[in-house]
Amino acid sequence: MALLLAIESSCDETAAALIQNGRLLTHHLSSQLDHAQYGGVVPELASRLHQQQIIAVVEACFQDEGISPAQIDAVAVTQGPGLMGALWVGVSFAKAFALARNIPLIGVNHLEAHVLSHFLNETPPPFPFLCLTVSGGHTQIIIVKDFLNLEIIGETLDDAAGEAFDKGAKMLGLPYPGGPLIDRYATQGNPEAYAFPAPDLKDLKFSFSGLKTALLYFLKKQEKSPDFVANHLPDICASYQKAIIGGLIRNLAQAAERYGIQHLALAGGVSANSGLRQAFLALCKQKSYYPYLVSPAYCTDNAAMIGIAGWYKWQAGQVSGQDMMPFARVF
Ligand code: KG4
Ligand code: ZN
Repeated sequence: MALLLAIESSCDETAAALIQNGRLLTHHLSSQLDHAQYGGVVPELASRLHQQQIIAVVEACFQDEGISPAQIDAVAVTQGPGLMGALWVGVSFAKAFALARNIPLIGVNHLEAHVLSHFLNETPPPFPFLCLTVSGGHTQIIIVKDFLNLEIIGETLDDAAGEAFDKGAKMLGLPYPGGPLIDRYATQGNPEAYAFPAPDLKDLKFSFSGLKTALLYFLKKQEKSPDFVANHLPDICASYQKAIIGGLIRNLAQAAERYGIQHLALAGGVSANSGLRQAFLALCKQKSYYPYLVSPAYCTDNAAMIGIAGWYKWQAGQVSGQDMMPFARVF
């Protein structure tokens, strides 16, 4: 019986999980709601809140399973990308835990963990599969050749899909994070009401900054009628969301065709979006591809995915030393 403790603190969720022999036992997270009043994540505040919550989420996991720290065999932690001060909290905690217990420390790439969240499922995709990872900071199409062999074949030139949602929501006067709210309003609106085009780029590239500008100019035009947004919010959200999803699905479909891969997956916070999930399933149905989704709770940041990724790294002998450093960006 091998037990792994996993920690996630890259942005605004403080999270812990326990993995036993490659299976999730339990996980907890504390969402930092305090950022909403500032309209976005405040890095300094995030670090402080991680510091306040990290012991509590770890202890909650131990309590669930009646496990003591002495029973843990390895500790995995998000090494990056993320907010530097936020990452330091999780990494310092994990280093201290590993040092005190004299057990392996495993640094995990947050984006790889989003992809590997599929291995929390009973029936994960077979290799190779294509994964569209859409989060607050990244938009990537990846060929997943093996647990630890991932090739990025498509990325965004500017904003990530999650930023397109959150910045659009901000313009519409919705609180942070606006992605889930746009999703909710969109279900009641008409996606054909307004035309917001997403650029059709070559080589599996994404771009969302033009779409954001299109929304800005659209809203400027309506300035003379102050109630316009309030009266048409579902239609605006549905139309704006449709443009984001259109860009994402178009590139995913192109990648599947170009590389001849039939097993397709979504990962990352934006993959909780109901419209994206529907469009993804429709694409797979139309082309006879095999679709793989994770439940919405594992789409957004959590430590279960860090645990499963850490587990496979540990099995492959990819262990970090005490000199391991967090990294803010992927270069
Ligand atoms: O993966 P994640 O939790 O954190 C990062 O690694 O960035 O993704 C967070 C992003 C935010 O931009 C949030 O607005 C977006 O995922 N998001 C959604 C939905 N749920 C979360 N966007 C659209 N629809 C949703 N239902
Ligand atoms: Zn994430």
